[in-house]
Amino acid sequence: MDQQTDRNASLREVMSSYPTGVTIVAAREQEGDPFGLTVNSFTSLSLEPPLVLVCIGHGATSHDRLIASSVFSVNLLSGGQGAVATRFAADPSEGRFDDIVWEPGGLGAPLIDGAMAWLECSRYEVLNGGDHSILIGRVEHARVTHRDALVYHRGRLSSSGG
Ligand SMILES: Cc1cc2nc3c(=O)[nH]c(=O)nc-3n(C[C@H](O)[C@H](O)[C@H](O)COP(=O)(O)O)c2cc1C
Repeated sequence: MDQQTDRNASLREVMSSYPTGVTIVAAREQEGDPFGLTVNSFTSLSLEPPLVLVCIGHGATSHDRLIASSVFSVNLLSGGQGAVATRFAADPSEGRFDDIVWEPGGLGAPLIDGAMAWLECSRYEVLNGGDHSILIGRVEHARVTHRDALVYHRGRLSSSGG
């Protein structure tokens, strides 16, 4: 194993041992159809102005249309939504929203039913981050429930409620 490969393997291992929540980042095509993908690289960035960020891989088929969207949603999944996370990470991208109950937020971004919390964001900035784009959103609407969160840790999905 050369040094570069070793470093990548270690980074993956370290990040995999760090528990995160799980989100579906979603937007809509011109024609109104929703699309989205599973994302755990979500974090808050600033309170004033209210900013969050997600990192979208250049290889994701939704990369270009997502970073071109003026509005997107971050659906913070609840403990029972492991199947939603798996579905939105699997190929093909098309049809992921079939059978998913969602409604448009105030700005039209898809809000997925049963999530733990929702953010509706306007695109604030897109930065280059190696093989990912860092998509920064300004939070325009936020809604939260008391549901447990879905947690991703060492490749497994579980509920924060145990
Ligand atoms: C728990 C989990 C977290 C993920 N987080 C990210 C992420 O932060 N950014 C990303 O680009 N892909 C992430 N992925 C991978 C994408 O969801 C996956 O590659 C998806 O198929 C991309 O969809 P698309 O090709 O339709 O854009 C994650 C997958 C899983 C299971």
